[in-house]
Amino acid sequence: MQIQLEQDFSPASYDLQEWQKGYRSLLEERDYWIDEIEGQVPPELSGTLFRNGPGLLDINGQQFHHPFDGDGMVCAFTFGEGRVHFRNRFVRTQAFIEEEKAGKILYRGVFGTQKSGGWLANAFDLKLKNIANTNILYWGDKLLALWEAAEPHRLDPATLETIGLEYLDGVLQTGSAFAAHPRIDPDCGGELRLVNFAVKPGLSTTISLYEFNPSGKLVQQQTHSVPGFAFMHDFAITPNYCIFFQAPMSFNPLPFLMGMKGAGQCLKIQPNKPTQVIIIPRHGSEPVRIIPVDAGFVFHHANAFEQEGLYVDSICYADFPTIDPAQDYRQVKFSALAPGQLWRFRFDLNTQTVERELIESRCCEFPVVHPDRVGRPYRYVYMGAADAATGNAPLQAVLKIDVSTGDRQIWSAAPHGFAGEPIFVPRPNGQAEDDGWLLTLIFNGELERSQLIIHDARDIREPLAKLSLKHHVPYGLHGSFTPERFLAIA
Ligand code: CO
Repeated sequence: MQIQLEQDFSPASYDLQEWQKGYRSLLEERDYWIDEIEGQVPPELSGTLFRNGPGLLDINGQQFHHPFDGDGMVCAFTFGEGRVHFRNRFVRTQAFIEEEKAGKILYRGVFGTQKSGGWLANAFDLKLKNIANTNILYWGDKLLALWEAAEPHRLDPATLETIGLEYLDGVLQTGSAFAAHPRIDPDCGGELRLVNFAVKPGLSTTISLYEFNPSGKLVQQQTHSVPGFAFMHDFAITPNYCIFFQAPMSFNPLPFLMGMKGAGQCLKIQPNKPTQVIIIPRHGSEPVRIIPVDAGFVFHHANAFEQEGLYVDSICYADFPTIDPAQDYRQVKFSALAPGQLWRFRFDLNTQTVERELIESRCCEFPVVHPDRVGRPYRYVYMGAADAATGNAPLQAVLKIDVSTGDRQIWSAAPHGFAGEPIFVPRPNGQAEDDGWLLTLIFNGELERSQLIIHDARDIREPLAKLSLKHHVPYGLHGSFTPERFLAIA
């Protein structure tokens, strides 16, 4: 795909030093009612927002090389009767406990974190640190912190205490991967269905698919082998298919084995080669289809649906971003990187052909839709987005797109605010697809604190409420909302 980097000569909407402050460890674990509230928290908004992300970015000043290597810290925001309670806890993985005790880095990270002592100290150390930092999900009465290359960690949803590694009643084995991007099918035979995958990379790639019913019981499992190496972070589902984008990545393990690079730094996208789109039927005996497409690299899909063809909406990058060993991720030159842009792909499964169309050229990430529209034709997508319409920049805004009309609404936290993933919460008994709220955690670089922003999703141009935390929360990755509460609101 040819994505032209447009040069943006308008003044930057942000200050790089303020942005960098969002990448500091948060060591304190807190519990409190949020009392600095501008506007009003809707009293009908009831339940728990869980968020996960790297909470630890250094150990006693020894920096991790990439935030993706930071230990998972879970935040819980409990909503009810117009009040909001905050709690955060680290996921106490075995490696976290060992490193906390040692007071130094003991494990190499996938994205380049090294033990001290140079390459000799790191060579041939292939131990993986399960950092539990990517997503958090409440399913089948279990709260699970997810990291794609290893087992989930189970937490107590009330206290956020770590219970331990979770094997999902024997579905997973020791060291099994379990992706951090489960999808919830809103109507699989009249009930919700959790669909997730695991990737075992190699010269060919093994993809396992798991489907769980609402009580957490495995109801379906299948495994497929596809040609070539794959690095796949996310997938999309429809009632009948699971869809993966296998970007043309090459993996050269030598610098990793020799202790000079993290495994993730040995990945390179091969330009001029197509992405292979792998379409696996969820039920029945249809064959697996693999259709080449020009897509660049995709971290996240917004949605997919079946309607005279198979549609997949995805955020595509012209390149795969890596941080070289000598580079500091906080010194990133945004304008030199390709922006993520939202594309729509329409596959004709009979002719095995594909058409694509750019939906949004503004730099964007972390797309979400109404949970009832997952895998179905839909109208609204919400995302984090750059303040400026062109070029690459940190996410500072929340963008809503009506994909049927092309209408857009945007709310920007620039110049001091930096945005993460918005979470859509449907209003109880709401009818319209956008009848609900958007919950977005913003880091304010001027105040050096984070704020939870609540929007009425029908009109996001002004927020309903801005809740200031007493501290910052390092930039996070993914979260989820459950209407259940695990804390008395009285
Ligand atoms: Co992700």
